Amino acid sequence: MSLKPQTFDPIPEATARVAEAAFPKLNIYMWRRDKFGSLYTDGTFAELFPAQGQPAQSPSGQRIGILNRIALVTGATGAIGEAIARQLAAQDGYEVVLACRNEEKAQQAVEEIRQATGNLNARYELVDVSRRSSIQALVDRWRGPLHILINNAAVSPRQRRETPEGIELQFATNVLGYFWMTQLFSEHLKKSAAARVINVASYWAGDLDLTDLEFKRRRYNNGTAYRQSKQANRMLTVAFAARLKSAGVTVNACHPGDVNSQLSNDLGFGGQTSPDAGANTAVWLAADPSVQGETGKYFEQRRMMRCRFGEDRAAVKALYEACASYTLLQ
Ligand SMILES: NC(=O)c1ccc[n+]([C@@H]2O[C@H](COP(=O)([O-])OP(=O)(O)OC[C@H]3O[C@@H](n4cnc5c(N)ncnc54)[C@H](OP(=O)(O)O)[C@@H]3O)[C@@H](O)[C@H]2O)c1
Repeated sequence: MSLKPQTFDPIPEATARVAEAAFPKLNIYMWRRDKFGSLYTDGTFAELFPAQGQPAQSPSGQRIGILNRIALVTGATGAIGEAIARQLAAQDGYEVVLACRNEEKAQQAVEEIRQATGNLNARYELVDVSRRSSIQALVDRWRGPLHILINNAAVSPRQRRETPEGIELQFATNVLGYFWMTQLFSEHLKKSAAARVINVASYWAGDLDLTDLEFKRRRYNNGTAYRQSKQANRMLTVAFAARLKSAGVTVNACHPGDVNSQLSNDLGFGGQTSPDAGANTAVWLAADPSVQGETGKYFEQRRMMRCRFGEDRAAVKALYEACASYTLLQ
């Protein structure tokens, strides 16, 4: 039996009404558009993914599978990432996977989210997003669809550090991590369309030097390296949005708010915004029907903002190509 999507056709209205009655709080708008839609009508989906699909009866007696929206959140042991994962898990019909590098913290975060939301479909996967091989291993063991990818993990060490592959750590984590997660998961996202990628970026952005992305020539300063990485997040949002649009995958960036965290402390700041408030725009971009189809944009406090970094198409292209060239080195 093939899992390949068969059709883009929406589920028939009569069937959708039955499903809405059976699952009143589910966001029918989303799954009705899912490429796996054809599988709903014959019960195949529910049988293939029994943990995710719950059978209901259509008027003609056919079984209907209800697909959870599956979200993957990087850095979900951190201040903002944990709040994003918890807020998504609190919504009906979401399965949330925390992509973390520290197993002990991951177990604790999953437990807290399960207790806070009652959603037992919260779990974790281990990944080091600063290493392409670790992301590739996660992609290789991923089963089933992926509807939402939230790139959020970031670091800002005060001293210049490198990954085992010899890449400056902040560029590897904050920029290549977002790039590789999106690139390597793109086939899963396309198959699961309509799918969304959200890049947690920042208003504090700038100083990107395409000729010295790893601070080999410039003197390393963690604030400068961080601002560069957040500019890059916003530029790569535009690059991936253009590449994935025709496949029904949207890509947007946001500023979360100033939140007290390991990261902000390393940058010499505190932060007055609560983690929950900081998570708000990313969760809205991930789940709200009103932003369905919106792509390549940058948002602050749920408001679309002009992004001059994304408007420099030549620089966006150059950055994308620079990031792509790292694939060869891994
Ligand atoms: N805080 C702010 O004021 C602020 C403002 C603007 C934008 N942002 C953005 O918001 C996002 C989250 O920041 P935060 O403040 O929540 O930071 P945080 O609390 O320090 O969390 C960072 C998260 O990233 C994870 N991480 C770091 N390196 C990783 C790696 N190589 N592989 C996997 N996971 C890794 C950390 O894992 P561990 O728990 O294992 O360390 C942690 O879960 C970042 O993208 C940041 O740029 C934050």
